Amino acid sequence: MIDTHCHILPNVDDGSDSLQTSMLMAAMAADDGVTGIIATPHVTWDRDYNPEQLSYINKAADSFRKSLKESGLPIVCYLGAEVLCAESVPSLLEEGIFPKIEDTDYALVEFYFDEPAEKIGRCIEEIRSVGIKPILVHPERYYEVQKRKTFLNDLVELGCYLQVNKGSFFGQFGKKAQKTAEWIAKNRLAALLATDAHGAGSRTTRVASAIESLSQKYGAEYIRLITKENPALLLKNQDMHVR
Ligand SMILES: [Fe+2]
Repeated sequence: MIDTHCHILPNVDDGSDSLQTSMLMAAMAADDGVTGIIATPHVTWDRDYNPEQLSYINKAADSFRKSLKESGLPIVCYLGAEVLCAESVPSLLEEGIFPKIEDTDYALVEFYFDEPAEKIGRCIEEIRSVGIKPILVHPERYYEVQKRKTFLNDLVELGCYLQVNKGSFFGQFGKKAQKTAEWIAKNRLAALLATDAHGAGSRTTRVASAIESLSQKYGAEYIRLITKENPALLLKNQDMHVR
């Protein structure tokens, strides 16, 4: 598996709080058969825009990659970001500083959980219009999506990709998120399944048992698509497959 959403970089957001934790997260992932992790620290432009944020993240990634190499763990760390989208998206796009995954056109985007569906749709369209391929993270956690799941069909039509969280299927984010994740998987709307891991305690990089049980429920072929094949296409900047 390649984990496409993970807060593994130490001390850059609410994820890993030390290099030791980051290395433990990497070891757990490798132990569960993960061969690549895209580090996706929160970038919160709307709340407290800080022009230093991206260079700080780049430095953290370089140093973490060095430690990973020294450790000999069979895992590659790629760099992306999880961008909180709202008011400032148009100016970010104008300035051409919207952070993407490595040198691809893909970008992970998130919204406040109570963001109106209409605003999410508009934002996705704006991002798409400049050639960025948005990946909406954990759609199952947004309140309006939980109320009206078919809104996700509209987003996919707009060219938005959906990434579901491993933990959502097991009730980690409540019953509504669980039901919504199940609906998404049943309807084959997700392009990616990722851990959104924040540490080595509760929201971890472990995937083996989740992949096993989700493969039984939704078919091994589909789970392979959203954990291996699509992440590989993403890193090659090719179109991912949905349905
Ligand atoms: Fe996240």
